Amino acid sequence: MERIKLHDKHFRLFISNKKIVDAIGDVAGVLNDEYRDREAPLFLAVLNGSFMFAADLLKKIDFPCEISFIKLSSYSGTETTGEIKEILGLSTEVSGREVIVIEDIVDTGNTIVDLHSILKERGASSVKFCTLLLKPDAYKKELKIDYVAISIPNDFIVGYGLDYNELGRQYKDIYVLDESDITG
Ligand code: IMP
Ligand code: MG
Repeated sequence: MERIKLHDKHFRLFISNKKIVDAIGDVAGVLNDEYRDREAPLFLAVLNGSFMFAADLLKKIDFPCEISFIKLSSYSGTETTGEIKEILGLSTEVSGREVIVIEDIVDTGNTIVDLHSILKERGASSVKFCTLLLKPDAYKKELKIDYVAISIPNDFIVGYGLDYNELGRQYKDIYVLDESDITG
């Protein structure tokens, strides 16, 4: 499909599934080299956005590993620091483990910075980040993003797990907001 409409907005094809899958293959190759002969790490995939990426990535991982899924809830703290994220559904013990977080996209980086400190507080021996997409022009944090499949401009995208107000997650390709045409 070349174009899709979700709620009130139009999106046009931006990254084909073939390109996504090829980029994931490259990242899996790097992980397979780095984690060979090490203690089994724990992959933590952040729902909902990373479900497709996690499935395609993990099919290509050939070292022993554990896989778990978490959700994040954000609440406004009583202090001026603003939003604080909490991890929901983390049933696996992370203490002393090498953790690899699987994210759909890193934008401002607020999410991964919060996740990093929570997982370190819980005693993870290392916390690495593997993201399908990165918006380098938006990301201004110090925290290193260890594995990035695809870097994109600062545009709003949907598909392959990513949503616009919960719609659009099921598409196998990635679409970008198309503001050139606001009719039908
Ligand atoms: P961050 O905390 O600003 O890095 O934002 C990360 C989260 O924002 C992602 O996990 C997505 O849920 C959401 N997000 C950021 N950019 C996009 C986008 O272009 N499309 C859909 N969701 C996005
Ligand atoms: Mg997300």
